[in-house]
Amino acid sequence: MSFNTFGHLFRVTTFGESHGPAIGCVVDGCPPRIPLSEADIQPYLDKRRPGQSRFTTQRQEPDTVRILSGVFTDGDSGQPVTTGAPIALMIENVDQRSKDYSAIKDSYRPGHAGYTCDVKYGLQDDRGGGRASPRDTAMRVAAGAIARKVVPGLSVRAALIQMGPHKIDREAWDWAEVERNPFFCPDAKAAATFADFLDGVRKQGSSVGAIIEVVAEGVPPGLGAPIYGKLDGDLAGAVMGINAVKGVEIGAGFAAAMLSGEDNADEMRVGNDGRPRFLSNNAGGILGGISTGQPVVLRFVVKPTSSILTPRKTVDRYGNETEVMTKGRHDPCVGIRAVPIGEAMVACVIADHYLRQRGQVGETPAWPFKKPAV
Ligand SMILES: Cc1cc2nc3c(=O)[nH]c(=O)nc-3n(C[C@H](O)[C@H](O)[C@H](O)COP(=O)(O)O)c2cc1C
Repeated sequence: MSFNTFGHLFRVTTFGESHGPAIGCVVDGCPPRIPLSEADIQPYLDKRRPGQSRFTTQRQEPDTVRILSGVFTDGDSGQPVTTGAPIALMIENVDQRSKDYSAIKDSYRPGHAGYTCDVKYGLQDDRGGGRASPRDTAMRVAAGAIARKVVPGLSVRAALIQMGPHKIDREAWDWAEVERNPFFCPDAKAAATFADFLDGVRKQGSSVGAIIEVVAEGVPPGLGAPIYGKLDGDLAGAVMGINAVKGVEIGAGFAAAMLSGEDNADEMRVGNDGRPRFLSNNAGGILGGISTGQPVVLRFVVKPTSSILTPRKTVDRYGNETEVMTKGRHDPCVGIRAVPIGEAMVACVIADHYLRQRGQVGETPAWPFKKPAV
């Protein structure tokens, strides 16, 4: 099975299965002399880790990361720094319960990758999803922690802004609140609504979808390319690569269809610092595939968890019609744990484009340009 690598210069390869001994990744292309230790990575993994509240799966994976290569303690600073060599990271799997899947091993779970893996490869990993398992996303989160350190001044934050039919009040947006509730929700009142709503969903043995918004600040202007290496194209591809993501939008996104040309295009002025200032950000910080220097704003939708307690019609791999009901420990709303994963994918893509810009263009040209004398 190929296609386990993404990125060009900041290149991430992940490996492992949910029910194997370990998962890991190799980050190749990270510049040297960047301070890096496990302590820089672990907090992001802790945000994604299951079993932290009653609203996520009760699987207990400590997700303790080990750096195996690419970092050494620099004699001058006495600090662990990247060497420029491939950075290999590993997390041991400690809470696999394949027996949760044994009763349904030959039946395809509707909404899952079992059928498509079988029809493509002639086998499906019946221990719990194999490479299609979201366990792999732990490694993407770990790689994202490194990516954040590659781009000076970069901040990538995300928040859950809708669960099922319940939306946040954008006027009440408070980033500090994201750290205070189990949903990564920026609106305290909406978080309370989400809690009641999800308790009901969970008790019914059902599941629900969600929308997450990612905001990247400190993205320098000039990242991306006009055609094949569009920053928005690469972001959308990377975020669509997260399990259960069914749509991505940038800036005004699908709502742009409702706007007039006057309302949609972000007007420009010169700011007090002499830099261009946009009067709005419907473009989500990207024009013509290239970053403007404004915050990059992206939203993605995560579908409801497919594994639910209600019996569902399906077929087995031998061509018989049957029913399947998934027991085991599943998230009632996988959108919650997708929040740090979305942040990580955006950070990896921005780091990759930052290094690509440095490689091709070097210094971003100084703006404004000098008008040539006639
Ligand atoms: C963090 C995370 C956790 C997930 N956990 C589950 C789960 O417990 N049960 C489940 O049925 N699907 C879960 N999913 C979704 C499936 O992995 C995904 O729907 C499946 O692989 C099919 O892929 P697709 O939805 O991208 O087509 C999770 C997704 C993410 C991002």
